[in-house]
Order: sequence, then C-alpha cells, then structure tokens
Amino acid sequence: MGKTIIISNRLPVQLQISNGSITAVPSVGGLATGMKSVHSGGDSLWIGWSGLTDEEIPKELAPQIDKALAEHGSSKVNLSQEEVDGFYFGFSNRTIWPLFHYFLEYSEFELDSWNTYKNVNQKFADAVLASSDEEDTIWIHDYQLMLVPQMVRKQRPNIAIGFFLHIPFPSYEIFRTLPWREEVLEGLLGSDLIGFHTYDYERHFLSSVRRLLGLEVHFNEIDVSNRLVKVDSFPMGIDYKKFSTAAKNHGNNKASEQSDLQRRLNKHKESTPDAKFILSIDRLDYTKGIAKRLNAFEYFLKKYPEYKEKVRLIILAVPSRSNVPQYQLLKREVDELVGRINGELATVSWTPIWYFYRSLPFENLIDLYTSSDIAWLTPIRDGMNLVAKEYIATRTDKTGVLILSEMAGSANEMNEALLINPNNFEQISESLYRAINMPVEEQKERNSQLQKRLERYNVEKWANDFMTSLREQRELDAINISRRITESLQNSLVEKFGKADEKILFLDYDGTLAGFQSDPQKASPDKELYKLLDELNKQPDTTVFLISGRDKDTFERWFLKKKYNMIVEHGVWISRDGEPFSLLEQVKNDWMEKIRPVLESFVDRTPGSFIEEKNYSLAWHYRNTDPDFGNLRATELTTVLTSLIGTDDISVLSGNKVLEIKSSNVNKGRAAMRMISEKEYDFIFAIGDDWTDEFMFQELPNDSITVKVGRQKTQAQYFVENTARVRALLQKFVTN
Ligand code: ADP
Ligand code: G6P
Repeated sequence: MGKTIIISNRLPVQLQISNGSITAVPSVGGLATGMKSVHSGGDSLWIGWSGLTDEEIPKELAPQIDKALAEHGSSKVNLSQEEVDGFYFGFSNRTIWPLFHYFLEYSEFELDSWNTYKNVNQKFADAVLASSDEEDTIWIHDYQLMLVPQMVRKQRPNIAIGFFLHIPFPSYEIFRTLPWREEVLEGLLGSDLIGFHTYDYERHFLSSVRRLLGLEVHFNEIDVSNRLVKVDSFPMGIDYKKFSTAAKNHGNNKASEQSDLQRRLNKHKESTPDAKFILSIDRLDYTKGIAKRLNAFEYFLKKYPEYKEKVRLIILAVPSRSNVPQYQLLKREVDELVGRINGELATVSWTPIWYFYRSLPFENLIDLYTSSDIAWLTPIRDGMNLVAKEYIATRTDKTGVLILSEMAGSANEMNEALLINPNNFEQISESLYRAINMPVEEQKERNSQLQKRLERYNVEKWANDFMTSLREQRELDAINISRRITESLQNSLVEKFGKADEKILFLDYDGTLAGFQSDPQKASPDKELYKLLDELNKQPDTTVFLISGRDKDTFERWFLKKKYNMIVEHGVWISRDGEPFSLLEQVKNDWMEKIRPVLESFVDRTPGSFIEEKNYSLAWHYRNTDPDFGNLRATELTTVLTSLIGTDDISVLSGNKVLEIKSSNVNKGRAAMRMISEKEYDFIFAIGDDWTDEFMFQELPNDSITVKVGRQKTQAQYFVENTARVRALLQKFVTN
C-alpha cells in the first residue's frame, strides 16, 4: 500500500530564523490545526511552504531547515519573495479569499498574480510528483492550490487524488465574476473526490460546473470525459480529546502551575464574581466580523446599561496576512474601535474590552476557553470555524454558552448554540442578554448535545470518512473502467463480428452517432457519417438499423434516399431498403391535444425550452435552459404529467435533456425484439446513450453486445466515452 501525501500551502509548523538559529512555531488557522492531528498519527508526508522565502534562508542554514521540517514529517516547496507576493498575498488572499467569502468589492483581478499562482501551483505539483508514485494517495488542501489536482493528474493519470476546500465555495453568481473561472474548475476536477465543509458549498460548486463547463452532473458525480469525479460534504471536526483532556488537566492545576494569563483572569473573577467573561478568538480577518462585533458590544451596553461592569469582552485577534492592505486597514479600525469604546465606557474599576493582538500558545488558549462564560463568534462568512467547536470541547462541566453566527459552516452542526445573524444588532444584543442569564441547567443540556456530536464526529473521523470515500470512489471507477471498450476488447468484438453468419446492429442516432446541438435540426449527418453507414450497410450478412426517437419526417429527409433501415419515434414507424415509412405499432394519439397545453405552459415559464411535435408523441426539450432551472422544471413537469395522465397507456420518458410523452407500448426494446425474431442472428449489437436505449439493453437476449455511450448507470454490458469513440468502433467493423 502506498503512502498518503498531504499538500497545503501551510505546513503544521512555520519556521523562523533569529540570530542564526531556527525555531518552529505551530501554524494557526483551521487547516493546519485540524490536519496536524491526522498527520501525526500515520505514515504520511506533508508538503508545503515553510513560511520563509528563498531570500530569507541563508545557504548554510538550508540543510538544517530541511532537517527541522523532517522532524514534523514535512518537506518544503521553495518560494521566492516575488512568488509569495503574487501567489500568497496576491491571487490567494487578494482575489480568491475575498471572492469566496462574498467580499466582492475587495477582490482584485490581476493577470500577473494569476500567472504567478499558476506557476507556484505547478511548483507544488512538481514537488508532489517528485515524492510520489502511482500507489500513493494525494490529499490536496485549500484555495491556494486549486490547480494542483489537474497538474498532478496530467503526469500521473491513475494516482488517487482528493481535494478539500476549507473555505466556502460561493454561489455561481459570485464565482462567475472570476476571469479564470473555467481554469479553476478544471484544476479542481483533476481530483477523484472533492470535499467541502457543507452541502451548500457543494451545491454551489456543482452548479458552477454545470453552468460554466456544461458537464453532466448526476447527483453528486461529475462525468469528466474518461473519469467520474465525486463531490461530497465532510464537515471538519476537531481533535476533541486533545481539547477536553487539556481542559481537565487545566482544572487540576495547582496555583503554582497556572500561567500568568490564568492568574490575571482569576484575579478579575475574584474581584467581581458576578461578572461574565465573553470571549472571541479569531485571526484578524475582515471575514470574522470583529469590527461589527465591537460595535454590537457597544450597542448592547447602551441598550442594557445595567451590565456595565458586569461583563468583560476578551478579544484575541491573531495577526494574519498583514501585507494585504485590507488587513492593515482592519487592524487600524479594530485598534481605534477598542480605544474609543474603552475610552467612552470604562470606569475606574472596569475596562469593558481586553484586546490581545498576538498568537498565544495552546496553554493560554485553554486558559481563555475554560475561563469564559460565553464564547461570542460572529463571522460575516466562515468556511467552518473550529474555535466554536474547541470552546465547547473544553467545557468539561458542561457550562458555558456559545453564540455563533449562522454564516459559519459550523452553525449547520451546532443548532444548540444561540445562532445569530451578524448584521442584526438587535438579535445579537438579545442573544447576549439571554446568554448572560441562561440557567445552568439549560447550558448543560445544550452543551451535552453539542459535545456528544463533536466527540463522535471528530477530526479523525472526518479524515477517515474522506479517505474511505476516496477509496470507494476509486474502486467504483475501477469497476467502471473494466466495462470500458478497450483496444483489446474492441479487437475481440471485431473478431466475433467477422466470424458471425448473421449480424444485426441497432444504432441510436442523437448522442451516439452524432453529438447534441442546441437545435435538434442542426444535428444533421455529416459526410463522414454517411460514408461510415454506407460501408456498414455494404457488409455481407449484416442488417443495420438506425433506431431513434426522432420524428419520421426528419429521418425521411436525411436517410430515405440512402435506403438505410430505420425505426423512428421509439418504434412507431419502420422503413427498410428505401421503402416509405409504415406503422410498426398501432398507437393512439388522441391524448396529445390534452397534454400539449401543459407543455406550452412550461415552455412559457422556462426560457430556452421548446416542444417537438412528432406523429405519436410530444417531446419537451430543455437543453438550452439554465441547467439547474431546467432540471428543476423537468422534475416538476414529470410530476404534473404523471398525475395528469393517470393511466398505464401513456408514459413520460426521461431522455438526454428531453422529456418525452408517448404510448407505453412503444419502445426501442420492443421494436428491436421484433426485428431479431425475423431471423436467426448470431451477432446482435445495440448502442445508445440515454434512458430510451435502456429498453433495448434490457430486452435483447443476454448474449447480445450492448454498449452505452457515457458512464451513467446502465443495463448495458460495456461503455464508450463519446460519439467519436462510437464511430471509431464501428469503423473497425468495416475495415477488418
Ligand atoms: P480560520 O481557519 O479561518 O483561522 P478557525 O476557527 O477554523 O478559523 O481555526 C482557527 C484555528 O486557529 C483554531 O484551531 C484555533 O485554535 C487556532 N488559533 C486561534 N487563535 C489562536 C492563537 N491566538 N494562537 C494559537 N492558535 C490559535
Ligand atoms: C484559513 C484557510 C487556511 C489558512 C488559514 C490561515 O483557515 O482556510 O488555508 O492556512 O486560514 O491563514 P494563512 O494565510 O496564515 O495561512
């Protein structure tokens, strides 16, 4: 079994050089703190950036740096100052981060930084390629490295690749504003599995894939030419044990073992035992809503002045991305706000806000979590927010109240918290009031539920679920691949064809012999197709049927003069050897009058859709509609029609971007069976791409060769990827 390679911009530690010696400090942020727990347990290598630029690393220290990283199971990708500027401070944090967090006005679209992002992603991909082989599993993380999956896939087509996005994936309306949106999606689709924290991010991604790349999405699988990519949500957990154990140990500490911070907190608790500590911890990031929180705190104190001297807000803001102008502005804004509010409201014995702007060691985080009565986290947008989970895990006596923004991914799993909209000051101050006055019993009740969930779905479970899903996806793909018509399978089919005495071929037209067009009439046969069909028809002892849902007039126009055998309208009409079409089935069409107005009302309300009228059926096409909207309307129309028809005689058939309403006793399977009953055939072949072809695959005898175009679920034995491969296969029957 191969090893697992984790790859992210941040490594679990950041290196710093001072006075010629190297120190490794733990990285902050959800990705590094979460993955660290997964990494430390197993046989894995973590590839990332050391936090130092090439210019900052003296040559003589380079070997020591590698050694220091190796101690953490890590290896580095070298980045120059220019690369860090364009890739990290530039495209990652001035374009993608704001855009994906809905701060459209902060997003900068600079071609130079996009180019650097591409080059640096290639560097990361090269580092993966240098350390991996086909047996390994590659797990790529976050928005800094969205092109890496495709870059690795290009060089190692069969390697297992998972990608996890730790930030939100925005709605299509936001994502579409990115000038390089297609490249980013294609980069991600190099993976076998793409994971998000929540279902909302997942569906936003799928919607963008459908609309921008026009790819087929079936539930949560994307058909990417010769692979299936699975998309799923895996809400990231925390290392629950680490936090709860640390909190328990902390509770048992003797006074002499306590940190300075803890002593200070105790002193204040003792002097004002009724006063509540309200805690907020975040990286200093505009997405975290820190400035809004300060304003809301002031609003609360003005609304409920009786809580002056009774509450204290502890704000821990961790320095982050300080080269990016928006972060510098935010730092100034927060400094000023804290100064002003403290200046206006402080009394001789009370400072309303304690503000720390630094990164604290783990022990101090535990001091803060365990000493605070309320955790108050109000991000404006946050992929997950692990701090909320960490706070709950440290509440060993189950007291404490969590107030959490509903815009954080973690709010989906933390319903027992007091959930707030970070823009609604009225609601926030009511929640603060409620939190301060919440009976202990209620606190315990809420936290028990939360703790149970967090303990069960911890970070290890999260990582295992992701890896299991990746493995299953690969196994599924392997089964799929075994059904693909390969060169050798193709040769054996051709041999069988050559040896057979009586052969019959059923060929679907749209999506099989010809690709789809926005207007069905434009999908007329090209010269190459006529030539292929002519040659197939010339083969001795071979009967070829074009079998289609198309209307008879179109096929008459395209093929009658060629004298091809044809079955159209799913089996209503037949024509052989250039004879005019005759009825193969006796069917009614009096129901069409009733159904047509229903379809018309759907056309009116679904831009881009249209009705195709055939002699014995009606088809509602929605290929040219917005893909999400079209699918929705198709489901709605199916429900309406099914209840309206209410009889077994007529059925609604779902084709490729088309719903067809027709007589139930007509289908391609029945028609094909009638044809094969006419002679003793020892080579029966059927090929098609959609649900209407499944009737043939189901009904034809077991020893028939049935082939699906595309990788969707099917009754067919084999599949080929696209129409070009169909033609290449048929060509083989002719040339051999
Ligand atoms: P983000 O990933 O956006 O930074 P999260 O809340 O998901 O936000 O993750 C923050 C992580 O960083 C948490 O695991 C938290 O414990 C850690 N962290 C936050 N503040 C500090 C700090 N001052 N010192 C060390 N680690 C911190
Ligand atoms: C978020 C991102 C991570 C990032 C972290 C800290 O959690 O999802 O990818 O590492 O913030 O940000 P930084 O820019 O310091 O790496």
